[in-house]
Amino acid sequence: SMKAVQVKLVLLGEAAVGKSSLVLRFVNDEFQENKEPTIGAAFLTQKCRLEDKVIKFEIWDTAGQERFHSLAPMYYRNAQAAVVVYDVTKASSLEKAKSWVKELQRQANPNIVIALTGNKVDLVSTGRKGRRQGDGEADEDEQEDDDTVDDDEEDDEDYAVTRQVATEEASAYAQEAGLLFFETSAKNGLGVAEVFTEIAKKIPLE
Ligand code: GTP
Ligand code: MG
Repeated sequence: SMKAVQVKLVLLGEAAVGKSSLVLRFVNDEFQENKEPTIGAAFLTQKCRLEDKVIKFEIWDTAGQERFHSLAPMYYRNAQAAVVVYDVTKASSLEKAKSWVKELQRQANPNIVIALTGNKVDLVSTGRKGRRQGDGEADEDEQEDDDTVDDDEEDDEDYAVTRQVATEEASAYAQEAGLLFFETSAKNGLGVAEVFTEIAKKIPLE
């Protein structure tokens, strides 16, 4: 049997874009609707079998909350691969992703393989109607009490979300910056394995 090549991989990106969910999908083929924010970082491993080699990913899943930013260099130092994640329903998360890419290109291993990943595409897939603000019936009760919980907003069967980052925009940026590019859904699994397989293919054999 082939000896596994170990590859240190780090995930970076704004809080709540779905980094931990992508790892959970890749490693355990599971999804949790209300995944708790990561504190510090989490470590997981998973093998990826290619035709000519086996890669054992050593995955550092970092915390996106701003208070943990200063820890990130510990995790991307010596990393051979990085997955930088944004949320396709949140434009500001792509800006954050770009700033992570800049930081990696300045401070990480110069040969690092970087994949940019737009996650949560299940929320914007065709067949779901994006509901814009101002659509529908007039809201007679605009001043809602602060302590009223609006359960409708939590019901994702009825509540569709508008895409804020076009595929072409992110993919053009990725090409310009020399990154692999993917769109994924940790929820339904779309594109997740491909992210890791394509990274594995780009890692040189030792
Ligand atoms: P931090 O650890 O705080 O940096 O967040 P994170 O990037 O690890 O995000 P996490 O995986 O915890 O996901 C945040 C929330 O988004 C959770 O409630 C997930 O269930 C949800 N989520 C993650 N990925 C997807 C996805 O592909 N689709 C949908 N619909 N929800 C997702
Ligand atoms: Mg997390």
